[in-house]
Amino acid sequence: MQFYSPRSNRYDAMKYNQCGQSGLKLPSISLGLWHNFGGVDSFHNARSLMHRAFDLGITHFDLANNYGPPPGSAEENFGKFLNKDFSSYRDELVISTKAGYQMWQGPYGDWGSRKYLISSLDQSLNRMGLEYVDIFYHHRPDPETPLEETMQALDQIVRCGKALYAGISNYSPELTLKASKILKSLGTPCLIHQAKYSMFNRWIEKGLLHALKEEGIGGIAFSPLAQGLLTDKYLNGIPTDSRAAKPHGFLRPEEVTADKISQVKRLNTIAQQRGQSMAQMALAWVLRHPEMTSVLIGASRISQIDDAVGALNNIAFSSEELKAIENILIETVV
Ligand SMILES: NC(=O)c1ccc[n+]([C@@H]2O[C@H](COP(=O)([O-])OP(=O)(O)OC[C@H]3O[C@@H](n4cnc5c(N)ncnc54)[C@H](OP(=O)(O)O)[C@@H]3O)[C@@H](O)[C@H]2O)c1
Repeated sequence: MQFYSPRSNRYDAMKYNQCGQSGLKLPSISLGLWHNFGGVDSFHNARSLMHRAFDLGITHFDLANNYGPPPGSAEENFGKFLNKDFSSYRDELVISTKAGYQMWQGPYGDWGSRKYLISSLDQSLNRMGLEYVDIFYHHRPDPETPLEETMQALDQIVRCGKALYAGISNYSPELTLKASKILKSLGTPCLIHQAKYSMFNRWIEKGLLHALKEEGIGGIAFSPLAQGLLTDKYLNGIPTDSRAAKPHGFLRPEEVTADKISQVKRLNTIAQQRGQSMAQMALAWVLRHPEMTSVLIGASRISQIDDAVGALNNIAFSSEELKAIENILIETVV
């Protein structure tokens, strides 16, 4: 691949939103490296996806210690892209990583102890060849470690400069409020909450959005396309090159149900009336909440990144459109 030179107009079309009550702005569309960037994937394709994303103003890239497969390989590849193509652009990037799921054997490679979080971040920085990440997340709540210890670890990480901001992911509304209060008392406010949210998974509407607003925390929605279900991809069966067909894909074929596809077909009619693709309408629908700073998409090909950024051409909904969407979603089993 030739030397990469980013487009000079890369900031023209993207919209950047204030993350909660912080000074950090995130692009409306962010790119996650959970799938398609691991050791099993095409390095060349992954690198092209990074280029296209940055060319379109996507400045935020989301990782975790365990992304791959194998675990850690997405961070390793990302480190190579940074080194090859983005070394002059570090200050234009917001890079996040996380720890909270199992990463290595024994009692110190999982959950939420200070021991695990700090050593995991050191390993992540090493894999990516970075001195610091912009956002470090606790990836999921730990029922055994005291919340104070996990939050103190995040505070310590920020204070020693290994991350600029702290975030949490998959925390319930109640736990988010508690965590936020502890972090505020330590002087390291919680920047962001990363939660699963899409037309097919609406748990955050039952309290979390309210908690984010109350605490001034930004929201970033992961799997906003329900891993590809909320696109036109599965309307005629499961394509062989899709996530649901891959052995290591987290979307399993049995999740592509006739009921869901029938809903997507009806939603797609509304999207067409709005002059959008199904994926674009699904992303716009997530971004309709003012608490939602960004949608965190995945992509296996460049056209999907183009499609996602195109959603920003129409993110407003009429009340009739919202009602029509609601009537279809009401049948969803969350
Ligand atoms: N905090 C957490 O616990 C957590 C958990 C999961 C994910 N995440 C983060 O969220 C990110 C995004 O998650 P996700 O990949 O599940 O998001 P997603 O945007 O819901 O799904 C992305 C997948 O949908 C398909 N797709 C995307 N755009 C499409 C289009 N325009 N037309 C047709 N198909 C399209 C592609 O799959 P194909 O391969 O089939 O083309 C793509 O890889 C992850 O990378 C990660 O950073 C966080």
